[in-house]
Amino acid sequence: MAKIYSASTTAPVNIATLKYWGKRDTKLNLPTNSSISVTLSQDDLRTFTTAAASEAFTKDTLWLNGTEESVTGARTSACLAELRALRKSLEDADPSLPPLSTYKLHIVSENNFPTAAGLASSAAGFAALVRAIADLYELPQSAEELSRIARQGSGSACRSLFGGYVAWEMGEKEDGSDSRAVQIATETDWPDMRAAILVVSAKKKETSSTTGMQTTAKTSPLFKHRVEVVVPERFKVMSKSILDKDFETFGQLTMADSNQFHAVCLDSSPPVFYMNDVSRNVISLIEKVNNLAGRVVAAYTFDAGPNAVLYYLEKDEPIVLGLLKAALPDLDGWQNKATVSAAVPDGVSEDMYDSLKDGVSRIILTGVGPSPQKIAESLVDESGLPK
Ligand code: DP6
Repeated sequence: MAKIYSASTTAPVNIATLKYWGKRDTKLNLPTNSSISVTLSQDDLRTFTTAAASEAFTKDTLWLNGTEESVTGARTSACLAELRALRKSLEDADPSLPPLSTYKLHIVSENNFPTAAGLASSAAGFAALVRAIADLYELPQSAEELSRIARQGSGSACRSLFGGYVAWEMGEKEDGSDSRAVQIATETDWPDMRAAILVVSAKKKETSSTTGMQTTAKTSPLFKHRVEVVVPERFKVMSKSILDKDFETFGQLTMADSNQFHAVCLDSSPPVFYMNDVSRNVISLIEKVNNLAGRVVAAYTFDAGPNAVLYYLEKDEPIVLGLLKAALPDLDGWQNKATVSAAVPDGVSEDMYDSLKDGVSRIILTGVGPSPQKIAESLVDESGLPK
């Protein structure tokens, strides 16, 4: 049997606080505006991917959560072609290297969270795919350079190549060479950022981000103002708030940007709806709590679906968990938080959170986390198939 070369990695999910919404080039996935996100801990949410190459493999194959998926789609093909080209240039420079660029790939990928939860998994998925193959090929390229490749898989994936607080700079060039992710701050620069994901069950299938953002970019009059005026200013102020560890500003902008993203969706023709009544109830609850406290205790943000993500600082964990425990006493996920002394904040009454009880099906408590991690364990067996 021919030798099997392999490399494994885990990659994180990221949740944007300044949203990417709109493409100026759909093939290269070039955005109409820069964006910012927080990378979440891989202890709670991650994609684990092994990439293997061998002369014995007969076709590129991808297994995602045990099911064979297509690798011939434009997005995956673009990533594989770029990575192979980089490997090929190494082989051309050093003919003693095994010709991995000519071998077929077996890629095995698993999420540690249910895909059904509707959490953005494409970001972690493409980041893991690119990182694992880059490691397999022993590519010298930096995470920033690899982010340009992951971007072509899914725009938001470029930000998952870094830990901590990450910007995706939109760039100007037509070939996309300057549209890449950069790290604003590491997870240890501002370590006390927490995130609570409230999984809200969606009854009907949502419009995919890819389709939704095309509709908005083509039809929304507000969108032009967002990308030309609002986001460039917000990008500067939010980046600074991260460097200053200024949660008040960071939280206010995070909420404002989520609201504006959903406003341009509503301003599209036909309108695109992602939030539902449960999402809106989360917004009013958090707005009330922040009002009562006279400061931003927690900041909400929503992507292309009804799930809520709350960002807050560790010092405010008792308030946020008090609230969530009161609202959602029957959910799992509290075990590791049993020691936090939590109480419902003064002035918050049951009618303010009552509606969440039936609408939130799962809660994931996590926080800011690191970049993709190299893993010794492998998901392929000795014959190169999923274990
Ligand atoms: C609302 O990255 O999923 O989550 O580039 O078409 O794959 P494609 O879109 P995708 O869009 C993410 C949209 C968002 C905002 C964000 O993550 O910045």
